[in-house]
Amino acid sequence: MSNRSVEEALNIHDLRRMAKQRLPKWLFEFVDRGTEDEVALRNNRAAFERIKLKTQVLVDVSARKQDITLFGKLHKMPLGIAPTGPAGMLWYKGELELARAAKAAGIPFTLATGSQTSMEEVAKVVGGTLWFQLYMWSDVRMSHILVERAKNAGFEALVVTVDGPVGTNREYNIRNGYTVPFSYNRKNTTAVMARPGWFFSVLMRYWMSGGMPTRANYPEGMTEKFTHVSTAERKTKNDSLAWTDLKVLRDMWPGKLLVKGILTPKDAELAIAHGADGIIVSNHGGRNFDSSMAPIEALAPIVDAVGDRTTVIIDSGFRRGSDVVKALAIGAKLVMVGRATLWGTTVGGEAGAARAINFYREEISRTLAYLGCRSVADLNRDCLEFVGASHTPATM
Ligand SMILES: Cc1cc2nc3c(=O)[nH]c(=O)nc-3n(C[C@H](O)[C@H](O)[C@H](O)COP(=O)(O)O)c2cc1C
Repeated sequence: MSNRSVEEALNIHDLRRMAKQRLPKWLFEFVDRGTEDEVALRNNRAAFERIKLKTQVLVDVSARKQDITLFGKLHKMPLGIAPTGPAGMLWYKGELELARAAKAAGIPFTLATGSQTSMEEVAKVVGGTLWFQLYMWSDVRMSHILVERAKNAGFEALVVTVDGPVGTNREYNIRNGYTVPFSYNRKNTTAVMARPGWFFSVLMRYWMSGGMPTRANYPEGMTEKFTHVSTAERKTKNDSLAWTDLKVLRDMWPGKLLVKGILTPKDAELAIAHGADGIIVSNHGGRNFDSSMAPIEALAPIVDAVGDRTTVIIDSGFRRGSDVVKALAIGAKLVMVGRATLWGTTVGGEAGAARAINFYREEISRTLAYLGCRSVADLNRDCLEFVGASHTPATM
């Protein structure tokens, strides 16, 4: 799509609508939807709507700043790109586009284990603040190979995702004829034919430059095409993983170690005890467990429990700058976004991802002004008003 259509989007919701027009149904729904009855997905958003912010008037807020220091490094705004598998299916070499937008915005980019561009290529071609997300295979030695690669490629943080002990129940994928590994059938092929723009600009481009993309970060010999049954793929879910496996990673990994998928103070404590430098409070964007809490509601008790002993990051459901401000006011140090920048990437590659990031920048800035805050460091729980939620300021 042209930059003009990117500029027609006025917010994240517009980018999502445009992406829906552009992607085959199975691919759009794979990114957009949740799991089972999508209660967690809806609640992630509803929880933000229950939290109100207190305005403060007649404060000189003309020089507002958003920069933050995270793990000793300055970032231009309190946003990061969460790991997601399919950016390279939404746009040709989409991970490179998204990583470029993150670098230009001065924020961290997390590359997922299942992405289509290799970590070495992202590091070499783009650079910036790069984090690598790790899934643990049941044969943990396979994951350890990736840890070594990420270390050699200069990634600054290892994000270990722990919220998927078993596969998820995404019934719409089955209805749409979308399976992993991908296999062609009447349903998904018809959906592709209905989206010629995506077909020619993404799929055809891959075919013309060597074939379907692969899971380029899988260990050697396992980087099969999307259409192939992969031994590695079958074993990425590991219901026997335990905290001791995290400890092994801690001993292997010299950089920052983050644990993604924490929703309780107890698990936050365990993550610290096993060497984590940070935790990501997340329910995987409502994609995995439909009875999970909204991370924004899980945040306050976790921040209270861990204090300054670890860095608390959060994701899931953030669509507006005001959502980001709410999380920072409760005590998160960084907010990560998944779908929002995927929609931007779908609509306009780097320019689309940059537009998505810019919406957050402008909306955070506007929210800070209404709150009478000059910087994100001014945010605290006095800025919050909880309406109809379980947490009231008195209990926080
Ligand atoms: C299409 C898609 C793929 C994802 N793939 C991964 C993944 O491979 N690893 C991971 O840790 N999280 C993955 N996530 C979860 C994100 O990292 C993040 O937790 C979530 O998207 C945040 O919610 P949001 O999309 O509402 O911002 C994925 C999310 C989406 C939408």
